[in-house]
Amino acid sequence: MEMITSVHPWGSFSRLNQYMQQLPHAVLVVDQAGRIVEVNEVLLRVTGYSRDECIGCSFDHILPWTGTMEELHHKLLKSEADTELEWLDRYGRAGKTTAMILSLEAPSPVYLIHFFQLTKDLNTSLNHRMVTQLTSEINLGVVVLNTEARIVEISQMACRILGVERMQILQQHIDQAFMGIPEEHRLIQRELLEGVKMQNKATSWTNDNQRYELLVDSNTLHDESGKIVGAYVIFKDVTNLRSFEQKIERSDRLAMIGQIAAGTAHEIRNPLTSIKGFLQMFLHSFTESGMEREKTYTEIMLTEINRINALVSEFLLLSKPRDVQYQLVDLNVVFDEILPIVQSEGLLHGIDVDYPSANQLPMVVGDTELLKQVFLNICKNGIEAMGNEGKLTISHSIDKEGDRISIDIRDTGPGIPGYIIDKIFDPFFTTKEEGTGLGLSVCQKIVHDIGGQIRVSSKGYGTTFHILLSYL
Ligand SMILES: Nc1ncnc2c1ncn2[C@@H]1O[C@H](COP(=O)(O)OP(=O)(O)OP(=O)(O)O)[C@@H](O)[C@H]1O
Ligand SMILES: [Mg+2]
Repeated sequence: MEMITSVHPWGSFSRLNQYMQQLPHAVLVVDQAGRIVEVNEVLLRVTGYSRDECIGCSFDHILPWTGTMEELHHKLLKSEADTELEWLDRYGRAGKTTAMILSLEAPSPVYLIHFFQLTKDLNTSLNHRMVTQLTSEINLGVVVLNTEARIVEISQMACRILGVERMQILQQHIDQAFMGIPEEHRLIQRELLEGVKMQNKATSWTNDNQRYELLVDSNTLHDESGKIVGAYVIFKDVTNLRSFEQKIERSDRLAMIGQIAAGTAHEIRNPLTSIKGFLQMFLHSFTESGMEREKTYTEIMLTEINRINALVSEFLLLSKPRDVQYQLVDLNVVFDEILPIVQSEGLLHGIDVDYPSANQLPMVVGDTELLKQVFLNICKNGIEAMGNEGKLTISHSIDKEGDRISIDIRDTGPGIPGYIIDKIFDPFFTTKEEGTGLGLSVCQKIVHDIGGQIRVSSKGYGTTFHILLSYL
């Protein structure tokens, strides 16, 4: 009976293989075509590859050399001193070590590459593992500098946030890496190497229009004698956390404004009532005795007092949950009543008011007077934004779910810039010299109180406010 023996491609190399595994340093065996045919354990440990990932691959995965293996062999033969070769690990990180290449002829020609400094010292390899792990963490930014302030290690996340390619930034000096950015705004500063350390320092960094909030730690690295040999920076991206904090800060601020407003408003209202009462008496007397000048002055005073009163009412509305008079409101009536005011205001500023949807609006539940105030305020803002020409369009639509009507008030003004759009509903936020900044915050409060929503869209040109209300 004939026996079939499977021949290991190594054949008589099995002894060589045994020998390789016992060596204290990393070894790579490459065939004439440049394919990796064997590796030892040490090499796997230092590079992070598994055996299967290496075997059959082109050698330049580990040895970044653009020529052939033969050329590399010749280069090493020619050089007299110890030659250092660059090597890459599984994560694309580069290192350098002295190396030697031997060529073996039998039974098939191969090259044996020894990396002398890559040893199987477990500690080094554990440290190396740790660095490998930290620098490939997607959530951790790591940058290591040497004493010349060159970047010798950088994690994937740091590359993403800094907007750089790992291979391009490695070995770069920080002045070069952060060229064009003033020293105090750099994420990695030179003074790091002078021993200035940071702990949980909140910093922000903008790259490609994206703003990152970072929490940074940094310190120097020392050798056994305590000499500074480099420095590291580690940071976490806490952008989400920060914006949450900012939202809380904002609502705290609003609550405080509300409390102050409520207290003050009450105190102002009471004296105003008596002043107003006496002024009305004066007006009466002045009219009776024909004192025209005094009568006019008193009228002006009364108008001004009414203005203060209206303002105070807005304050109160903002600060305490008002008892809304829930009633069935015919939106057609609301608009019939406010349109003359809006149109005359428009006429004054040379602005067309377009209201195509007469008598088509449904009934909603709310408060007629308050709703008038909402639409008036928003129309007024639109007209004020347009200056001396433009068009204000009031239209409506039914939302996707079909349960709400959206009243859309659109102007052809300059639009609202992105950096203020988040603030326009804040009390006292105004960009107008004469504005109080209460208009929109009052509108928002009213609409929320009746269970509706108010949205704004503005992209560069023109602004539309959408007021969404449940309808019957
Ligand atoms: N249609 C719009 N187009 C452009 N900017 C707008 C528009 N509506 C509101 N804004 C911006 O929002 C800010 C706040 O508006 P809001 O109505 O709350 O206050 P105001 O109009 O400034 O003052 P007030 O209404 O109390 O007189 C305005 O100052 C303006 O910068
Ligand atoms: Mg306004």
